Amino acid sequence: MRVVVEEEEMYPSTPGKVKVERSSSSSAAAAMWRQLHRCFASTGTMFLWALLLVATTATYLSFRSLAGGGGGGDATTAASRYFPAASWGGLHWERQIRSSASPRRPAGSAEGAGLSVLVTGAAGFVGAHCSLALRKRGDGVVGIDNFNSYYDPSLKKARRALLGSHGVFVAGVRYAMENPSSYIHSNIAGLVTLLEACKDADPQPSIVWASSSSVYGLNDDVPFSESHRTDKPASLYAATKKSGEAITHTYNHIYGLSITGLRFFTVYGPWGRPDMAYFFFTRNILQGKPITVFRGRDHTDLARDFTYIDDVVRGCLAALDTAGASTGTGGKKRGAAPYRIFNLGNTSPVTVPTLVTILERYLGVKAKKHVVEMPGNGDVMFTHANISLAREQLGYKPTTSLEMGLKKFVRWYLSYYGYNRGTLGFMNHL
Ligand SMILES: *[C@@H]1O[C@H](CO)[C@@H](O)[C@H](O)[C@H]1NC(C)=O
Repeated sequence: MRVVVEEEEMYPSTPGKVKVERSSSSSAAAAMWRQLHRCFASTGTMFLWALLLVATTATYLSFRSLAGGGGGGDATTAASRYFPAASWGGLHWERQIRSSASPRRPAGSAEGAGLSVLVTGAAGFVGAHCSLALRKRGDGVVGIDNFNSYYDPSLKKARRALLGSHGVFVAGVRYAMENPSSYIHSNIAGLVTLLEACKDADPQPSIVWASSSSVYGLNDDVPFSESHRTDKPASLYAATKKSGEAITHTYNHIYGLSITGLRFFTVYGPWGRPDMAYFFFTRNILQGKPITVFRGRDHTDLARDFTYIDDVVRGCLAALDTAGASTGTGGKKRGAAPYRIFNLGNTSPVTVPTLVTILERYLGVKAKKHVVEMPGNGDVMFTHANISLAREQLGYKPTTSLEMGLKKFVRWYLSYYGYNRGTLGFMNHL
């Protein structure tokens, strides 16, 4: 969504518009995938493995960056010399993956056997939170991420360090290509690469992947329901997510892959994304810089169904737990497999000016607001999720109001960026 202009540049608050990404390197996706799968398939008693595609950006995998890119930085160079296919990161690397992928929850436990989950985009906002939550309840988790510079990569590195301290290994991988249409390559080509690998895997994993509320586009029938039309996207990003829903349906139909798509509604919270409005509003307000707030032609305010990260994480885990198995083997379908799509929203839209007012209160600083009319080709005015389907089938029940969620976000923000409690009296009420 495109709520704000900052420093004369459009900033989407979900990744809605064109953003050029610098990326490089070659791909060894399939080879690397086989290695990961081999590690997964041999983590002792293999119960069930699943794939959580929170971001599909991490698909064109480069082994070179895996071996040298930080987390996997101590992979032996000797090993890579003997494995010129560049698909193996060394003994230490493999041990880390095996250990990270092993569930800690025994088969006999009350919650059932642990999963082994591969999380793509694990150093991202939702990916990191999901990884921690899975790990906490005893599932095995391996993360991959391309650490692209869509926003400040230092935040992703900090999230990786946090995951590492909780026993979740995140392998760095790199984008294959240099292309301004990065959404096409991440959300379409990347997704297909993963689906191809999944359909060939034995056993096939169950797949839970992140779609987006942006697929509702110019639909003005609210609240948005999964059965509504989604053929009027308002951004290229939205169009790629809509394509993902069509593509995953194809793989479900042809190969029997179990697919669950989750339409996230403006997810926010601690460790969030700096390119989103609530995040850079906070930054600008604290720095005394102006913020730009869009308004409709008829002076209506933009509103979003802001959804707190912990609520979304519970929805993601419930989606994994109820996914149902894929049915195919050896690339052949053996029977019908589940194909599901759920809204994960909060069902209570809040206007952008209200968001600003809440931030002002927690920060103790008045925002310098520039109110600007929304351009005719701008983002949608309103999002509002109907979550009855997710409530019914996933037991999904968001409990965090924007007030409560922003309080937690601001507390994290001030601590992460080193604002001093002593000098900021307003923090007393956080
Ligand atoms: C929400 O969606 C369900 C179907 O999932 C539908 O039965 C219900 O009427 C919808 N609610 C509203 C308020 O549109």
